[in-house]
Amino acid sequence: MAYNLLKGKKGIIFGALDENSIAWKTAEKIHEEGGTFVLSNAPIAMRMGQIKELAAQTGSKVIPADATLQEDLDALVSQSMEILGGKIDFVLHSIGMSVNVRKGRHYTDEKYDFTTKGWDVSALSFHKVMQSLYKADAMNEWGSIVALTYMAAQRVFPDYNDMADNKAYLESVARSFGYFYGKEKKVRVNTISQSPTPTTAGQGVKGFDGFISYAEKMSPLGNATAQDCANYTVSLFSDLTKMVTMQNLFHDGGFSNTGVSQEVIDYFSN
Ligand SMILES: NC(=O)c1ccc[n+]([C@@H]2O[C@H](COP(=O)([O-])OP(=O)(O)OC[C@H]3O[C@@H](n4cnc5c(N)ncnc54)[C@H](O)[C@@H]3O)[C@@H](O)[C@H]2O)c1
Repeated sequence: MAYNLLKGKKGIIFGALDENSIAWKTAEKIHEEGGTFVLSNAPIAMRMGQIKELAAQTGSKVIPADATLQEDLDALVSQSMEILGGKIDFVLHSIGMSVNVRKGRHYTDEKYDFTTKGWDVSALSFHKVMQSLYKADAMNEWGSIVALTYMAAQRVFPDYNDMADNKAYLESVARSFGYFYGKEKKVRVNTISQSPTPTTAGQGVKGFDGFISYAEKMSPLGNATAQDCANYTVSLFSDLTKMVTMQNLFHDGGFSNTGVSQEVIDYFSN
């Protein structure tokens, strides 16, 4: 069911790789709710993914940009304003990658140039995106910027590796930039801390299958799906959440506030 919540709103969506991507589901939902947008992803993802299908389906243009490169981001922001015919109302940062995770390096055996690359892609890129938007004065007042994060920023999940540190940094950037963006331009900045979700990035984490089942049993409402996350993000892009900013919002079926569930107790009882 659609409510036209984003009618007339324009945005940029980063990170739709394939139909499992959280950004893909969000793009479809935004389209359903009347929003228009430019899709962006790293140039290499253009070759691997199916972003052109999503573009055709939603009547969107695709602009490649490596989110670690300021010149790519500056070009993306100015081209997006041209294509969309004015300033931007919403931005989704749905980008993450750890080279240490990909190469199977344990947290106690990081290769630091891998760490630096992963941090740049997963965390600093959020600052770079916002700095590009801010300097170009590209956001409308009461615009909304969202990045996706995970609870390993607050609590230890051993296999999440250096992504935990990247997410802690990302959440801090949301607060710090959110202060200045709020004061100067009335733009809000939040992170959504999402349940484990079966996507390319999610499944790259060691032990993902066991972990997603555990989270399902621990969460009173069960895990939030990518579709649920898309719905929640639309609410944050809408005018109904105008005063929410600088928050890390848990979207996890209650997992983060559950000490233990009956299912888990039963599993360990005999
Ligand atoms: N899947 C999960 O379990 C889960 C849980 C919580 C948070 N998240 C977060 O959600 C976000 C989206 O991930 P997803 O699960 O949809 O997986 P995904 O693999 O579909 O998306 C990750 C995206 O990052 C893009 N990317 C990588 N390097 C880039 C670069 N240099 N420039 C621009 N884009 C780049 C990829 O091309 C891809 O589209 C990530 O921030 C991820 O950490 C995922």
